[in-house]
Amino acid sequence: MIKANDEHLQKLIRLITTAAANAALYHPEHRQVLRLNKQALNELHQLFHVHSNITLKIIDEQLIFSSRPVAKNLAVDRLLESLTRNGISHLQIEPGVYAEELLGLINILSKASDKQIDIKSSENIQFGQIEIRYKNPNSKSSAELDLADIADYEADRFMDLYQGVRNKQKLEMTGINEIVNGFVNAFNSQSDVFMAIAPLRSMDEYTYTHSTNICMLNLAQAKVLGIEGQLLNDIGIAAMLHDVGKMFISPDILTKSEQLDEEEWQIMQQHPRLGAEYLLNTPGIPRLAVVTAFEHHMRYDNTGYPQTIRPWKQHICSHITAISDTYDAMRTHRAYEKSLEIDQIISIMLDLAGNKLHPQLTYSFLQVLSELDKNTEPSNYTAS
Ligand SMILES: [Fe+2]
Ligand SMILES: [Fe+2]
Repeated sequence: MIKANDEHLQKLIRLITTAAANAALYHPEHRQVLRLNKQALNELHQLFHVHSNITLKIIDEQLIFSSRPVAKNLAVDRLLESLTRNGISHLQIEPGVYAEELLGLINILSKASDKQIDIKSSENIQFGQIEIRYKNPNSKSSAELDLADIADYEADRFMDLYQGVRNKQKLEMTGINEIVNGFVNAFNSQSDVFMAIAPLRSMDEYTYTHSTNICMLNLAQAKVLGIEGQLLNDIGIAAMLHDVGKMFISPDILTKSEQLDEEEWQIMQQHPRLGAEYLLNTPGIPRLAVVTAFEHHMRYDNTGYPQTIRPWKQHICSHITAISDTYDAMRTHRAYEKSLEIDQIISIMLDLAGNKLHPQLTYSFLQVLSELDKNTEPSNYTAS
């Protein structure tokens, strides 16, 4: 019985935080937010069968429910972070709670900035606020966080792991595994891969946000192909690490706002080999991640880099990653070029299918995209 209730609570937290992420990306009344809100209300009703009210407290950076710490996972961490950022230490929801009130809570949680917002208790949702607002010294400015979305937390964590590589620290595989597991669980629990990839970050200012985007895109493709289990996880890990070789390239080249000159481009093209070599010498890395790091800029038509004996048979994960990479490059802002509209992206990818990109896998990906497009407002779909 207790376990069943825990499951309802975990589901509630996951729905609320996903709704908040979608509200941040789109708008608080977007149909996905409303749908998640309705599901969250159902979970609350399940919990009210057993509890007279739902009280969540933050004590010592732990979320406490019914005098017990709630098992940590990415959604719980995300909720903790949003509540703390808003100075909320105590949250009580009464059985009479109605949809608009819950939506109000989701809206508060969606404010992914340090801006002070007006938090008022309502009839059935009461907040207890602490005086001193938590401010993470490493957090980005509010302007940078305006496009915050479901992958923010993972991207921030991953940034630390990636920077560790640059600083010659050990690559922490446990951290990467946890991030990928979080994504895989989110995909499994939502049973809707299209929704899970909707809140991709639109800014590609850092390799690590790009890598979390690629992870979600790879997992969505793999799920549609029916891939599950360890291979699914490895495909996610390979995505997270595909560009790790960039950590050995000078930041001046990586962040250059103009087109690279020939010499810089030659240096940039070293990143697949450097990444593969690094991963090969790192214990605990799935072989698939080594292969993908090496092959992700090779093309279906045997062009691309690194130069190897051709023809070269790429792993399916490298093809999948190349598709995710191509898509993410077109939809995000680059320092020196604009993002493209979705129909432009689709027509370019159709052109690339069969020469630079694997044809069947590209068609399958475009099918995922068209499903996603049905569920989202076109204007919100491309980077603004
Ligand atoms: Fe790359
Ligand atoms: Fe990439």
